[in-house]
Amino acid sequence: MPGMQMESSAMERPPLLLAITGASGMIYTVKFLEILAALGQEVDMILSEAGELVAELELGKAGTDRLKGFAKVIHDSHDMAAAPASGSGRWRAMVILPCTMGTLAAVANGLSSNLIHRAADCFLKERRPLIVVPRETPLNRNHLRNMMLAHEAGAVIFPAMPSFYHRPSSIDDMADFFSGRLAESIGLSVPGLKRWTGKQNEYDPRS
Ligand SMILES: Cc1cc2nc3c(=O)[nH]c(=O)nc-3n(C[C@H](O)[C@H](O)[C@H](O)COP(=O)(O)O)c2cc1C
Repeated sequence: MPGMQMESSAMERPPLLLAITGASGMIYTVKFLEILAALGQEVDMILSEAGELVAELELGKAGTDRLKGFAKVIHDSHDMAAAPASGSGRWRAMVILPCTMGTLAAVANGLSSNLIHRAADCFLKERRPLIVVPRETPLNRNHLRNMMLAHEAGAVIFPAMPSFYHRPSSIDDMADFFSGRLAESIGLSVPGLKRWTGKQNEYDPRS
């Protein structure tokens, strides 16, 4: 059936579901979206109210509009009838970037008080990939316990922590590397990502 063929080819590369909450680190979100766009990976987006506020504080209005412009669809975070509220939806993965401690707590404890929490709950119940990028410092006992709970429920905890062994020369460099690693964690291959290839490579601290 032609209809069935169309459905199976659309399912070969479903969009990614990206939730943006009100933690610091919107530069990672922008870099991640740029990588996905370069790889032709479609994105459906949900922004929390605090996510929009922090995006405007960190990126400005124009930067926030650009960030939203990467999305094929933007769902209202209060629309509990939107597609991500059901486990029947098809996305290759859900990424919460950045993830606040509040959203982490909701995900860890199965509270579905907005569309982001509910979508994450669906990903966990359907055993689909959910990657949570928490950002806070220092971490209290609740934060640590919620990370463990989310991990035990099936989420990947992928903290927003820059690395330095690739010798970044700018903030852009740091954010590119982190976001590239995140993209690879959902099965994409990122051309040009600097890889550690052993002690004799160009990042050898003795060189
Ligand atoms: C400028 C700014 C930066 C913030 N950074 C963080 C952060 O890094 N981590 C965090 O957990 N909350 C942070 N918050 C607080 C959250 O935005 C707040 O707890 C909010 O209610 C979270 O809602 P959400 O999870 O629905 O986005 C920040 C708030 C502001 C205004």
